[in-house]
Amino acid sequence: MKSRITPTNTEVPLRDDDWIVSKTDPTGRIIYLNRTFMRIANYRESELLGRQHNAIRHPDMPRGVFRLLWETLKQEREFFGLVKNMTSDGHYYWVFANITADINAAGQTVGYVSVRRQAPVAAVHAVMPLYAEMLRIERESGAATAPEASVAYLWQLLAAQQTTYDRFVLGLYQQ
Ligand SMILES: Cc1cc2nc3c(=O)[nH]c(=O)nc-3n(C[C@H](O)[C@H](O)[C@H](O)COP(=O)(O)O)c2cc1C
Repeated sequence: MKSRITPTNTEVPLRDDDWIVSKTDPTGRIIYLNRTFMRIANYRESELLGRQHNAIRHPDMPRGVFRLLWETLKQEREFFGLVKNMTSDGHYYWVFANITADINAAGQTVGYVSVRRQAPVAAVHAVMPLYAEMLRIERESGAATAPEASVAYLWQLLAAQQTTYDRFVLGLYQQ
């Protein structure tokens, strides 16, 4: 497996009936991935099992989005988001993701489950400038405070539109 992947400008298209599924342990280490995940991301199962989910992270994704993702999960809420991921060849694909906790009979969170589908084109166009601005803010603020800075910007934007993150992101899916 390549340790460092160079991003390309090639988009991998998802079909209407593609559902990308993965499960992680409580730290985000992949413990299950379905065949659709392997086909789209172009990895064999053995290459991703046991690895952190950031293995498919695309550098165009602001860190603030993942900060929000983990904060939402820690608050025992489900997360919805538009995510640009990277394949093993450096190609990209956009998904609309839902992540929920996997809770056992004793009420303990034993991991997380993510189900993703094709992101609507209009939704991708709506978040691209937002993510670009979040990335710019992160670069400007420096590594230590990057996620806080870009999340603060996102909250400001949502407050100005008198909406919440969930309403904003679910509204994008309906576009
Ligand atoms: C169930 C689950 C699914 C995830 N799916 C993705 C994903 O598709 N792409 C991604 O970049 N990060 C995903 N993450 C978030 C990663 O764990 C990680 O926070 C993110 O890639 C940023 O990693 P980094 O801050 O170490 O670079 C997922 C996390 C969980 C718990």
